[in-house]
Amino acid sequence: MKKLIIGNWKMNLGLKGSLALARALKGLKSKNEVGVCPSDFALAGVKAVLGKSQIKLGAQNCFWEASGAYTGQTSAASLKELGCAYVILGHSELRALGESCRRVNLKAKAALARGLTPVICVGEDWTKYKAGKSRAFVSGQIKRALAGLKLGGKQLVIAYEPLWAIGSGRPLQAEAADATQAFIKSEARKALKQSRAAVAVLYGGSVNAANAKNFLRQGNIDGLLIGGASLKAQEFKKIAETH
Ligand code: 13P
Repeated sequence: MKKLIIGNWKMNLGLKGSLALARALKGLKSKNEVGVCPSDFALAGVKAVLGKSQIKLGAQNCFWEASGAYTGQTSAASLKELGCAYVILGHSELRALGESCRRVNLKAKAALARGLTPVICVGEDWTKYKAGKSRAFVSGQIKRALAGLKLGGKQLVIAYEPLWAIGSGRPLQAEAADATQAFIKSEARKALKQSRAAVAVLYGGSVNAANAKNFLRQGNIDGLLIGGASLKAQEFKKIAETH
């Protein structure tokens, strides 16, 4: 099956850096579906550079209202207009700044309504992981984020990113990720009240070119959400071409 590999560039690059990275990646050829998520200000430029490349575009956040007096926000409709296919929602770095499940829920509904695929991030911190509470915690996040969501025939992506694995060089063991991700898919389908809903579950947290294959060969890991390694063109290409 086609895996989904998404690079989350976070706030690491300015416009020049984003365009340069897009140029270095545009020739990529992979059997996987591949996407990159630059900062909002670089979306149009990156889209122009990517041109007919197979690499799809995504954003790192959106707002739930369609338009109006919402200073500093970007609507799902505008992201669609810019050529985005995905939008990352509820990343732990945003949650650390106050993002709530309720907001993630509103944003996911807006994204779906505008034809964007939401990539909803969930994951437990180290204390919960050590206490064996990962499943209970992500289950709560999923229920709140997916409440009342109607997928219809559309696709939903959930990225399982244990907080302590992000940027730490200490990924979760692939087999452990696989088991939790099977649980996440089943919880998501329950929350959606659709036993066959198109839910893809990605793993994120210290993935690199050396460990990507080990994750991708797990049956319940539908793809990867990559941070640091997505900023290095050659390394991201290697990951994207892994299957
Ligand atoms: P790293 O790959 O740098 O650990 O980041 C993961 C992440 O947060 C992707 O959204």
